[in-house]
This record gives sequence, C-alpha cells and structure tokens, in this order.
Amino acid sequence: MEATIVPDDIKHYPVLLKEIISVITPQHGGTFIDCTFGQGGYTKEILKYKNTKVLGLDRDLESKKKAKEIEKKFPERFQFKNLRFSKLNNLKLKNENIKGIVFDLGYSFVQIKDPNKGLSFNSKGELNMMMGFNEFSADQVINKLEKHELEKILNYFGDESDAKIISKNIIKFRETKKINTQDLVSIIERSKRKKNFKVHIATKTFQALRIFVNKEISELIYGLINSAKILKKNGILAVVTFHSLEDKIVKYFFKNLSENKSVSRYEPKIEQKPLSFLMPQKKPITPSDLEIKENQPSRSAKLRYVIKNNDSYDIETDIEEKFSNYLEIEKIGLKLW
Ligand SMILES: C[S@@+](CC[C@H](N)C(=O)[O-])C[C@H]1O[C@@H](n2cnc3c(N)ncnc32)[C@H](O)[C@@H]1O
Repeated sequence: MEATIVPDDIKHYPVLLKEIISVITPQHGGTFIDCTFGQGGYTKEILKYKNTKVLGLDRDLESKKKAKEIEKKFPERFQFKNLRFSKLNNLKLKNENIKGIVFDLGYSFVQIKDPNKGLSFNSKGELNMMMGFNEFSADQVINKLEKHELEKILNYFGDESDAKIISKNIIKFRETKKINTQDLVSIIERSKRKKNFKVHIATKTFQALRIFVNKEISELIYGLINSAKILKKNGILAVVTFHSLEDKIVKYFFKNLSENKSVSRYEPKIEQKPLSFLMPQKKPITPSDLEIKENQPSRSAKLRYVIKNNDSYDIETDIEEKFSNYLEIEKIGLKLW
C-alpha cells in the first residue's frame, strides 16, 4: 500500500470533549482507557489532570504516530496498544482499578479524508475501507458476494430502502468489469428512485459497507461487554455514538444493565437482584449549538454513560440475542477470508 498523504490542514475536533470530561471526572485522578484513541483528543485532555494515567487503544496503524508523541511527553502516564477494542479482555486488566472507559465511535475526519482508506464516496480507485486488523476489503464484498447477501448488508447496516435494486445492478455491472469506488457511486445514482436528498445519494451504501468490512456491530457489542466486566465499583463507562444503529445498541445495553426486567403483576414475585450499573440520566447528552456551529459533523453525536455498582467481573446481559440478526449478517464475511 502507498504511504498515506493527508493534508496537514485537516483539523480534528474531539466531539463532546467538555461533556466527556464532566462525566468521567479526571480531576480526581485515576486510570482511564480511551478505547478510540484516534488523534488523542480525549487522552490529551485527561492527561492535563495530575495523577491520571491513560491506556489508549486504536485499530488504525496510523494512530501510532500521534500516540508516540504523547508517550514521549508522558512516559509514566500513557501507554498505547494497536488493538481492536473488542479484544480488551486480552489485556488482563481484571485486577486493575479502572476509573473510566470511553468510546468515541466511528472515524475521524482525518481518516475519512485519507485516500488510501477509501471511506468516502469521493475516493478514487479500488474499494477498500479496511481500518486495521480486517479479514477482507470492500472490494471483495462488492465484487464477490451474492445478490441476496449484498441486499441484506445494505438493508440492515445502511437502512437503504433501495437495497434490492442497488444489489441487482451491482451484480449486472460486475459481469462486464470489476467495480471500483467511482463505478459503485454511479451504480447507486442510477438505482435510486428518489434523487433529491439532503445527504449524498451513496451515504447509506457506503456506511453499510464500512460497518460490514470492519465488523462494527460485534466490535461494539464485545467492546461494551468486556468494558462492563473489567470496571470496578464506581467505574464509569461512557460512549459517544454517531448513527442510530450504534445508539440503539448502546442504549439497549445500558438499560439492560441498569434496569430490572419488568414482570407482569400476575406472575409470581421473584426476588430482583441488585443492579450492576446505574444510569444517572436516560436522555443522551448532545452537542451545544456552538459546538455544532464550529464542527457540523458533531450534530449527530450522542453521549450516554453508566456507573458500575459492584466489583463483579461477571455481568448479565442478553445483548447478543437481542442483536443476533446483525451478528448473523456479519458471518456472511466468513466466506471471504
Ligand atoms: C472518532 S475517532 C476518535 C477520536 C478521538 N476521540 C480524538 O479525540 O482524537 C474514532 C477512532 O476509533 C478508532 N476505532 C474505530 N473502531 C475501533 C475498534 N473496533 N477498535 C479500536 N479502535 C477503533 C478509529 O480508528 C478512530 O481512530
């Protein structure tokens, strides 16, 4: 792969930064895990407070460069691991006293603009979308999978109402030529029934492909489960989401951990177990008008958080069953390894 050339003038804005800090309170010191280190926006802010330590994780190899700068400045207080956050349990953190774990999901502007990653519909050349530790690329998905498989991916991961016709036209186009990024955009343009959209016509298909190639649903589900396990009493789990599917998963998981199952009054009373987490507020925290003005893409960000109520490593959740449809669709990728 060629060296990545991203113009220096692309500015990165850490989303909901003030709000994250007021939720995890690094002012009192402690060890934090930044599961989506990125450009280090959250990490740097946490390290401004004395007596804090941060373990940063990111799947993207590029993020190592930024991490090295911070490691030089804070050799005793900062560590970085190039890792997918679903693998948090590999780090043997069970006995550490972690005060807070943060996730800022999705990808940074710098990554979206990186021509080698091909996340944007403005990218040129072969489809890619691999963000690190992947088994297959968007090129393999579009040029190898069958019509019904593509349709499911676009439908479930992109909520694309024209998934059927787009998939049909992908298969047809493939008979003459291998599909690249520009071809895919023009196939979508020709397939969509309604054309007057506020967002780019290819947004949903590209989102679906990105989620599928990077297994973002299982990443999120197992990232959340493993985080909830390793936190100790009073530890905080805070997550910023950017699209409705992510938010649906986080909202369900947090409710699942912090509310008792409702039982019908006609059923025999069972003793309810003490809850493993507390959710101080049900409504998500969203960016201020000023933040949205300064950084338009922040408008869809939602911050939710929960606080652990015990020291147990075991947690009870049915999140895998609840989202099993999505996990099943991810398995279509097994045939591309
Ligand atoms: C929106 S950016 C985070 C920006 C960061 N909060 C900051 O202020 O610089 C999200 C980052 O999470 C990383 N990421 C996404 N999914 C991941 C996963 N499953 N495991 C580890 N890192 C992931 C991306 O590579 C990206 O760098």
